[in-house]
Amino acid sequence: MNILKKDAMKKVYLKNMELSLLASGDGTEVIHHKLYKGGRWAMGPAEGWIALEHLTILSGTLIYQTPSEEIVLSTGDSFHACPVTEFSLFIAQTDVEFIYVTSQPQFQNYSSSLQEMLDLAVMVEEKDGYTAEHCERIKELSMLIGTKMELSTDELYSLNLGAFLHDIGKVKVPDHILNKPGKLTDEEYEIMKMHTTWGRETLENTNIPELIKAGKIVEQHHERFDGKGYPKQLQGDEILIQAAIISVVDTFDAMTTDRVYRKGLSVDTALAELERNIGTMFHPKVVETFFSIKDKILA
Ligand SMILES: [Fe+2]
Repeated sequence: MNILKKDAMKKVYLKNMELSLLASGDGTEVIHHKLYKGGRWAMGPAEGWIALEHLTILSGTLIYQTPSEEIVLSTGDSFHACPVTEFSLFIAQTDVEFIYVTSQPQFQNYSSSLQEMLDLAVMVEEKDGYTAEHCERIKELSMLIGTKMELSTDELYSLNLGAFLHDIGKVKVPDHILNKPGKLTDEEYEIMKMHTTWGRETLENTNIPELIKAGKIVEQHHERFDGKGYPKQLQGDEILIQAAIISVVDTFDAMTTDRVYRKGLSVDTALAELERNIGTMFHPKVVETFFSIKDKILA
């Protein structure tokens, strides 16, 4: 590729994608995206956002997921909106390269806070005795369930972020509490519970609309269907459906994962535990959906 004006080019590497700012000026940006197979990318409306957004596929196949259908975009195909009025979710069926043009700059959004948040989420889970794959696994399983439950693309997008970032608030929990192998004291447990609210606050502080939305989900991921969860004792449908999904997936993953201080339970025991807690801890529809795609989840 020939770049005539090299000083305009900046490169950013994110999980699942590489971005290069090819040209920018007068508010317009031309960004080259490389999205790896399985990666997701979205365009969404925002207050005050009136930009023209356009993409053209250079190579590979991108699925454009609408609430009612999946449209396959391949080499030479284009998509544009002006302004974007609804969330448009794209999934890379293969490694995909595309050119994205926007008349309002947003390259900076990619490069700073979002990546910092994703890195922070992984760091926190590692401190908490998980491997780096935990966030990724929670996200993938949540998306399988959310898709099966036919959530809107808008809801799926915030589920994607919320699932990955669900425990980000643990960054504020002192290490001696986070890493304590034994049972927490009442006082320590109260501090641990704060990770939900701290998570929302951390994401709100980014001022990125998508992360602010995800923050609401993050705050609710320990609420219980029967209202006995935390931090706000919400119940039933007061709890965002994305948070209800993350709750089931996170509990299942926590039960079946080996941690530093204990071995994970068998899959059968963990499944029985999910079933036993239908309607108390867990949203019945979420557990029902989990079981209906059990083979896919456990594959
Ligand atoms: Fe949590």
